[in-house]
Formats: sequence, C-alpha cells, structure tokens
Amino acid sequence: MGMLAQMGEGRSQAKKALKVSKRSALPPFLALDVMRKAGELSQAGEDIVHLEVGQPSSAAPKATSSALISALEQTPTHGYSVAFGVMGLRARLAQHYSDWYDVQPHTDNIAITVGSSTAFALAFMAAFDEGDKIALPTPGYPAYRNLMEGLGLEAVPLSAGPNQGWRPMLAEMESWEALPDGLMIASPSNPTGVVLSDSELAEICRWCDKKGVRLISDEIYHGLVYGCRAETALNYTKNAIVINSMSKYFSMTGWRIGWMILPDDLVSAVEKLAQNLFISAPTPNQIAAIAAFDCTDELEAHCQRYAQNREILMTGLPRQMIEGAAPCDGAFYLYADISHFSDDAVKFADSLLAREGVAVTPGVDFDPDNGHQYVRLSFSGRTQDMHEACKRIHQFVGDLSSNVAVKLAGF
Ligand SMILES: Cc1ncc(COP(=O)(O)O)c(C=O)c1O
Repeated sequence: MGMLAQMGEGRSQAKKALKVSKRSALPPFLALDVMRKAGELSQAGEDIVHLEVGQPSSAAPKATSSALISALEQTPTHGYSVAFGVMGLRARLAQHYSDWYDVQPHTDNIAITVGSSTAFALAFMAAFDEGDKIALPTPGYPAYRNLMEGLGLEAVPLSAGPNQGWRPMLAEMESWEALPDGLMIASPSNPTGVVLSDSELAEICRWCDKKGVRLISDEIYHGLVYGCRAETALNYTKNAIVINSMSKYFSMTGWRIGWMILPDDLVSAVEKLAQNLFISAPTPNQIAAIAAFDCTDELEAHCQRYAQNREILMTGLPRQMIEGAAPCDGAFYLYADISHFSDDAVKFADSLLAREGVAVTPGVDFDPDNGHQYVRLSFSGRTQDMHEACKRIHQFVGDLSSNVAVKLAGF
C-alpha cells in the first residue's frame, strides 16, 4: 500500500504554521546591537568613537601570526583535532596555570573550545538539567543569562550592585527558600570591573563545596587588573568549572579559542557534548595560539595602555558619572553612573551616539531591572579615542543640562 493510502487517501491534513522555537524569544545582546548600529554609522562616513564592545584594538601577538602561517605551510590540510583540542595547546595551558597560579591541572581536564562562549553552553548542558536554577551576580555579562534562558535554565539574579559594594553576597543566597543548583561568577567582572579578593573567592568556593552548589568561574579577564591580582578558583576547589579564553588578555577575539578546566566528574560529559556541538575548535588557530603564551612583553604593553585609558576616563569624564561608578579594578570597562542626567540608559546611549557619535552600551544589557541608570564604556580601544570620548560626553551632558537634548531625546 502506498504511503498516501496509508495516511487516508482523499483526507487532506490542515497545513501547520511553520515553527519557531519558544527559546528564540531570548533577548538580544544589546552591546552587539549597538556595535552593529555604530558600525553602520562608521561605514557611512560618520566619525564614531567606539566604546561599546570589549574588543582590544591591538592585534594578536606578532608571534601568533607567524605561527599560523607556518602551521598552514607545514600542514596545508589541517583537519579536525580531537574534541578537547591539540595536545600542544593543552600542555602549554597546563604550564600557564603553573606559571601564573602555581596550580597544575592535568591535560585530560583541559578542553579547548570555540571561544569561551561555547564553553558556557557546554558547562550549562553538562552540569544542569532543564529547570535548574543558577545564581548570577547582577549586573553581569548578559550572554550567561540569555543562554541559560535559551537552554531552559533559570538564571536567578544575585544582587551585586552599589548596595552590595558591587560584590555578590553569600548571605543573600543563604536567605533564599531553596539553594540554587549552580553559581556563576566572573572576577574581574564585566561590566563592573570588580575583582574578588583571594579570601572572597576562597569563601565562595568553600561555600559551594559545602552546599553542593556547582560553581562556574569565568576567568576571561585574568591578566587585566589595576593594582590587584585575580586568583583562579582552581586553587580553592576541585569541583568548579573554570572558563577562560584567548580573547581578552591575549588580544585574539576573532581567533575563537577558549578553554575549560573541568572537574573529573564532568570530563566525559563535556567531551561528548563538544564532539556533537562543534567537533573541534579551529585547528590551525589552536596551534598558533601556543605562541601567545610567550609574548608577555607585548601583552603587558597592552595592559599598560588599558591602565592609561582607564585613568583618562576616570579623570576626564563628568564627575557625576564617576562618583557612582563601579570600582573598575579589572577588565576594561567603566560602569558609569548616568542617574544625574537620565534614568533611561537606552535613550541616553541612543542619543549620545546620534548627537555626539560616541557608542556605549546601556546598563540594562547587564541588569534589566536596575541598569537604567548606568552605561558601560569599554576602554579596550585606542588612547586618543578616550580623550575624544571625554570631550564629546562633556559636550553631550552639557547640552542635557541646558535642556537642549532633553527635548530632542524626549528624556
Ligand atoms: C565576561 C565575559 N565572558 C566571556 C566573553 C566571551 O568571550 P569569547 O570571545 O571567549 O567567547 C565575554 C566577551 O565580552 C565576556 O565579557
């Protein structure tokens, strides 16, 4: 019997509406929306100062470019690597942890990923089930929350705003009816620049171990600190998932190389998920990335530029924006207070871009409830841009104060 006959010849089935998943309703990453808008203006010939994304304006270390060329010359047909990545890079990372933190992760526990962004997806999928709750210091990096939502996890905001000295408080979680299944932290933090002290980090690790809460520690801004140091969670617990990447300190955003240091109980799960999700990170880039770890002088010079840029913003921006700003001890962001001028960060950012050509990210990207009075300025760019941004922002808030733009922007 033919298929049509089996389905009941003559009876027609109603056409279904094409499906789009519910998870596609997840919110956009506003910083990237601003980047697109600002990029279009730049392309149209407008003179735009870009402070909207955390992307170093410096090139990848010189030695990585020559390593990439020779990797391609020596083996023109680089195929996939194993899912956890080439052993040379994993071994170099193990050495890096020994050099920087005096801790020795085994190469079996190191997984190379496609940027740290896919590492989050792997961590969330490996450690949690649909409906699980993960505490998320807020304000925080929006992709954590958006991705969790997309995966059916519940991101539970953990206050880390001005009333908490911009730091997550264990006492708040203790006061919740039920403990979360996970806690995701980032130190230094994006957007606040907060760096947890060794004792704060140790306390968080101990608390998670005691309570059975899986800790995920995003350490992507390690190396970018101003007058303090950032410790790895690996030194305080064997149960955390540690995530990092070549994107920030190493100035290699577009290379899409990140990594995870995994606790033993998640190694096999993450390997299977990585095999099925992306097979492997780009192999030539993995090989070339090894060279970056020996480029300390070049990389430290970038850090000095960020420190200089930070100083220019801290001293050159309107005083009201700095007084209520987050600490900015690490990473390359200033989470600046605009409450003196506006309580609508999206309108403020739109108007600043339209009128003065300065692209910044509205605070609601990082904190949907309380981010209306903040904007994030990235100082990962060129030093001359920081001077120019200060000049233009003074002009902008001067106009706001004299009510010219207030009318135009409808504040
Ligand atoms: C806190 C944080 N984690 C992760 C990422 C993503 O980085 P990657 O390029 O490694 O995917 C970013 C990018 O801005 C970030 O700010």
